[in-house]
Amino acid sequence: MVKKSIFHNKVVLITGGSSGLGKTYTNYFLEEGAIVISCSRRNNFKNKFYTNNRKFYYYKFDLRNLEKIKVFIRKLSKKFKKIDILINNAGIALPGKIIKLDYKYLLTSFQVNFFAPSIITSEVLKLMKKNNYGRIINVSSGGAVNCVENYFSYSSSKAALNTLTKTLSNEIKKNNIKINSISPGPCKTPMFPGNKLSTKLSIPTIKYLASLSSKGPTGKFFWFMNEIDIFPNLKHINWGKPKKL
Ligand SMILES: NC(=O)c1ccc[n+]([C@@H]2O[C@H](COP(=O)([O-])OP(=O)(O)OC[C@H]3O[C@@H](n4cnc5c(N)ncnc54)[C@H](OP(=O)(O)O)[C@@H]3O)[C@@H](O)[C@H]2O)c1
Repeated sequence: MVKKSIFHNKVVLITGGSSGLGKTYTNYFLEEGAIVISCSRRNNFKNKFYTNNRKFYYYKFDLRNLEKIKVFIRKLSKKFKKIDILINNAGIALPGKIIKLDYKYLLTSFQVNFFAPSIITSEVLKLMKKNNYGRIINVSSGGAVNCVENYFSYSSSKAALNTLTKTLSNEIKKNNIKINSISPGPCKTPMFPGNKLSTKLSIPTIKYLASLSSKGPTGKFFWFMNEIDIFPNLKHINWGKPKKL
């Protein structure tokens, strides 16, 4: 008898599954027998792999419609009763130097890369708390740490996303809910066509974070299975006595 995957019948919500990394993650979890809910603006799931799969659900949704997110997630909660794994993957990268800053770029970047995942997480969290189980993965970026030139809107929104990861991990310590960020590395996708790596290279990290035990890490940032501490530990600082400079 073939052994069932750890993800068999787990409910996985993946934002931005219509291309690049999101599509790779969608295919991976479907192949593992999970129930996959995908949302994006484009329906790129017209072939039989998806249309014949009764465990695949697609919802057309523009994540910039922030005021509609709560209703959307509540609809999913009612239908599926649980969301075991949430992958906040949808993202947008709009280049431009700070000297020519277009506030609309900044706004859109934060809407898709930070506001939407924050609202989705807040709403999904209610269901996860009820079920006392949840694994949340925020698809962040090396940009959040490297602050690469020309990508201020992108990097700052991803740094904010990492703050969601860290803050929520502090707020839900008593629950069996884990939230971590990953950087998938420079992959060749429609977002960054010049990059070289395969989107499949981040699958082991995704698998690891989606299947963490209750003792597993939370509030961390992973880069190809390496844990990076991006938030300094301030515990050793004596706040009472300011150091003389
Ligand atoms: N590729 C890399 O080298 C790399 C490196 C570090 C981090 N990342 C991160 O990885 C994630 C996936 O990126 P990718 O490289 O796979 O890029 P991609 O192929 O362009 O995929 C982006 C996904 O986000 C969705 N999306 C964008 N705006 C949306 C909106 N307003 N509403 C709903 N969905 C929206 C897109 O779907 P629709 O267009 O159909 O809406 C698409 O499915 C992003 O968060 C990105 O920042 C990528």
